[in-house]
Amino acid sequence: MRTDIASQPLTIFRKDYIAPGFWVDTVEMGFDLDPIATHVATRMTMRRNHDSSEKNLVLFGETIKLLQLRMNGVNLKKSAYSIADGKLTILNAPDVVTLEIETVIAAGKNTSMSGLYVSNGNFFTQCEAEGFRKITYYPDRPDVMGTFTIMLRGDKKKYPVLLSNGNLIAEGDLGDGRHYATWEDPFKKPSYLFALVAGKLVCQEEKYKLKSGRKVLLQVWVEAGNLDKTQHAMDSLKNSIRWDEERFGLELDLDRFMIVATSDFNMGAMENKGLNIFNTKYVLANPSIATDVDYAGIESVVGHEYFHNWTGNRVTCRDWFQLSLKEGLTVFRDQEFSADLVGTETGRAVKRIEDVRVLRQVQFSEDAGPMAHPVRPDSFVEINNFYTVTIYEKGAEVVRMYYTLLGHDGFRKGMDLYFKRHDGQAVACDDFRAAMADSSGHDLAQFERWYSQAGTPRVKAETSYDADAKIYQITLSQTCPDTPGQSKKLPFHIPVAIGLLGADGKDLKLQLEGQTTTSNNTLVLELTAESQTFRFTGITQKPTPSILRNFSAPVVLEYAYTDEELGHLLANDSDPFNRWEAGQRLATRRLVKLTNAVQKGEELELDAMFIEALRATLNDTTLDPSFREVVLTLPSEAMIAEEFAVVDPQSIHTARQFVRASLAQHLKSDLLSAYENNLTPGKYSPDAVSAAKRGLKNVALAYLLAWPDDATFMLAKTQFDEAQNMTDRLAALSGLSNFSGSAKNTKAAAQSLQKFYKDFKNEALVIDKWFMLQASAYTCDVAKVRELMKHSAFTLSNPNRARSLIFNFCNANPARFHAADGSGYALWAELVIALNKLNPQVAARLARSLDRWKKYPQNLQAHMKAALQKVAETKKLSKDVLEVVSKALAS
Ligand code: TRP
Ligand code: ZN
Repeated sequence: MRTDIASQPLTIFRKDYIAPGFWVDTVEMGFDLDPIATHVATRMTMRRNHDSSEKNLVLFGETIKLLQLRMNGVNLKKSAYSIADGKLTILNAPDVVTLEIETVIAAGKNTSMSGLYVSNGNFFTQCEAEGFRKITYYPDRPDVMGTFTIMLRGDKKKYPVLLSNGNLIAEGDLGDGRHYATWEDPFKKPSYLFALVAGKLVCQEEKYKLKSGRKVLLQVWVEAGNLDKTQHAMDSLKNSIRWDEERFGLELDLDRFMIVATSDFNMGAMENKGLNIFNTKYVLANPSIATDVDYAGIESVVGHEYFHNWTGNRVTCRDWFQLSLKEGLTVFRDQEFSADLVGTETGRAVKRIEDVRVLRQVQFSEDAGPMAHPVRPDSFVEINNFYTVTIYEKGAEVVRMYYTLLGHDGFRKGMDLYFKRHDGQAVACDDFRAAMADSSGHDLAQFERWYSQAGTPRVKAETSYDADAKIYQITLSQTCPDTPGQSKKLPFHIPVAIGLLGADGKDLKLQLEGQTTTSNNTLVLELTAESQTFRFTGITQKPTPSILRNFSAPVVLEYAYTDEELGHLLANDSDPFNRWEAGQRLATRRLVKLTNAVQKGEELELDAMFIEALRATLNDTTLDPSFREVVLTLPSEAMIAEEFAVVDPQSIHTARQFVRASLAQHLKSDLLSAYENNLTPGKYSPDAVSAAKRGLKNVALAYLLAWPDDATFMLAKTQFDEAQNMTDRLAALSGLSNFSGSAKNTKAAAQSLQKFYKDFKNEALVIDKWFMLQASAYTCDVAKVRELMKHSAFTLSNPNRARSLIFNFCNANPARFHAADGSGYALWAELVIALNKLNPQVAARLARSLDRWKKYPQNLQAHMKAALQKVAETKKLSKDVLEVVSKALAS
């Protein structure tokens, strides 16, 4: 094996941060838009930062042609500067500088979707994290902030709409069929928040009155033909504006706020100042193309990007190692926004459950693999690889822990102080922590370890009850596994919310020995040492502990619950999260045991206790349908895999299917009633109550199809044929295409799939669903994926389409992807290599599907290693892919 390849990429370290040698004050740019050669003229005023050890004037630039470089009115000679490794360095620059730069960009050939690119004939930019340097030479780092004025010029017919950040201050005709628009952003900003959009677009717009009485213009821009799909995004935007005013006292600071949708986008959306650019997936919705999940996704992403205006834009990051400062905080804010909009206590809990599911399934897995990194990383090769679930979702958990420790009002005080201190600045995670500590007086020194140490802590609980002394004692101990580059871990500051249930299922009054605070339900214990014992006094009966309520910390909790205790919690816990958790623990136990039984070829059996516990929940109409749905949903195959040292995807699949079929068999009539009692006739509405009903009904349907007969097949077929909305149509189609029934039924399922394609072939987002549904069905093997790749609607160049087929197969169909002959990995390698040429960011995301290769049996490991090596040895590999595969191979 060649070992030299994987070790070459240049690593950037957090400890090497130095302040910029020059600040930027003003930036004026003129764009002459042309897909073949867009000319960009930039004039910027700069001044020396005397506090920096960097004495040179350093600009970054990549993939652009430099036509002119003038400093203080004089053309710079080639000897006055150097260009190497993406850096343009001017030696001996004076303290005050005006630079004039002319560059040329081949936007039409830019398939990376970073920098300036063309999608469907329209121009878009994506500058986070380091895309601005593909537009002009610039100190493209987030701690350099300037005031931008942008003039866009282009053909009137091809580019009737010309947008950039801030306010439109001039527009007009240039003659010769061209026109211009000038935009001025009144707020200074880092270059990663720059954006322009130009092309044929139409908008839904509205004047909206802020709480202060000021009126703002809101616009949602889309391609012609999509104006019937913008209302929900507009509503979500208005809800976001209102929510940030009410919950955090934060007002929109611009007179105009624009959202633009593009079908070619690497991520979900981007918070460019006043001009958010979105993946169409997170804008376009109407009942016939979008599911309840899509509606919820749009609401949360619109919220997320809008909330960045304060957490990210007004207060930004000093360097990219601080990325979670804006992302973790903004995810926490969007999670709270969605929860507040649902309103009910159960609704909030279900949202929390959904968020924790993602954290456990994806982030815990990342934390246990070769790409594990702290919430504030110490190094990276390619920053784009660090837009991870650790930065986003674990980062949000870290913010949530402040909230849990300081309380609702305490957290708000901390936020207020954060903005008071840092508005207009580029700061670090430590500054946020300091604001939380200083505003509350809470000692948060040790809390810093949540930023510096990677890995998922494990908290072990042990309890004992002394009936004579009426004391219930709980000992909590913490450990954290090694992660790449980090072995000895120090104890974390962990908030552990706890309640104690009596035999009647009610919460006991809590009084900690030696402390004055009491609670009628939940207390937050602060675990700071490796091991700590807490004693509750006045406990007159042996309770059932409900530990880590509402998932108060991103840890794995180990406690030797009996099945009876879990049943008691599932039936009674006042904390809905832990009520759900108890059900998941019962399920996981069985799924692990059954997986082992599958491997040993033993007979499989599901016990009555579990079946009856689920029956009781399913039939408990006092419970919200959304809650019954999440309780009924078994841990995913990926979650079950986390329970094993060596993962056997086929056996896990078999065991899980067995449990689904057994439940369907035993709960058939209960499932049928749940189905019938949760129909939502009449006009579709995506509100929480109706969505919850559809959710429960469709989970019931999926179960019914796991123990199939002709009647249940007909139920699904009828639902598909008569569906009035995409939620019901897709749920039915998914059921049908996973159906293992008679040849006649299989044929009918195939016909439904075809009809779906025909009916929606002009709706790209629905065709994505069509590919996704097939890619994640157990009936889809590697050969079937290859066949689907030949379909005329498939292309690797569109990230949404690539994700719908390829990513779903590699990540959401483990029993097929991990085929024993290694054919899944061979396909993976081919596609990573193909994508690497087109779009390194997307390629690197796909590359991560083999992160955990060391967790599989030897024969699979050998195939995976070969596939990883094949990628690693590819010529012209991007930094993005190289970092991922070299870290995997080194593990
Ligand atoms: N800042 C964006 C968000 O979280 C993320 C993002 C959008 C992004 N596009 C990107 C990050 C491209 C890296 C590259 O909302
Ligand atoms: Zn974000």
